[in-house]
Amino acid sequence: MSAPAFDSRAFRNVMGQFCTGITIVATADADGKPRGFACQSFAALSLDPPLILFCPGKTSRTWRFIEESKTFAVSVLAQRQESVSAAFGRVIDDKFEGLEWTPSPLGNPTIDGALTWIDCTLENVVDGGDHHVAIGRVQSLGEPVEDKPLLFYRGGYLTTEHPHLRHADRLDSFLTWDGGAAWL
Ligand SMILES: Cc1cc2nc3c(=O)[nH]c(=O)nc-3n(C[C@H](O)[C@H](O)[C@H](O)COP(=O)(O)O)c2cc1C
Repeated sequence: MSAPAFDSRAFRNVMGQFCTGITIVATADADGKPRGFACQSFAALSLDPPLILFCPGKTSRTWRFIEESKTFAVSVLAQRQESVSAAFGRVIDDKFEGLEWTPSPLGNPTIDGALTWIDCTLENVVDGGDHHVAIGRVQSLGEPVEDKPLLFYRGGYLTTEHPHLRHADRLDSFLTWDGGAAWL
């Protein structure tokens, strides 16, 4: 296979032009401890049956717990939850410390104050290069909360109320991290 005619910097820059929301994908480990990570690669997939997808990196520790539990909840972050995203984007052990959360019907952690949540069982996993494509079957849904979303754009945060880019933590292995200064 021939090498691409662009470098990873160019790929990240171009992918960073696609603005997304931010989610926390979380499960409980075998001891009942909440585990989760910040995830922008989340999308609706199918209405009937109800399916969603997200793409965890192959080195994600949370992913290993989800593979084991075969269940997870996706919380959609609201505009004031930038610090939640930053904490869950780090490789630290107790990301839930000091955070208010509520177990879903399947027992997965949902983040209080999020716009809503989606409770899923793991339906299928497809190879996606250095990531997996994880497909979830939706089992139950949170109430939609009236608030504004936290957005991820050009490797930084913005909201519709504060449309000025704020830098995210360094995320070297993460596709749309810009690795340096970025402005709107
Ligand atoms: C805003 C944001 C979005 C992210 N989206 C993804 C993503 O879609 N897929 C992914 O694998 N990592 C994503 N990350 C990076 C992970 O959250 C990060 O690698 C985290 O440390 C993984 O934690 P874990 O190893 O405990 O699972 C994102 C990080 C941030 C801050």
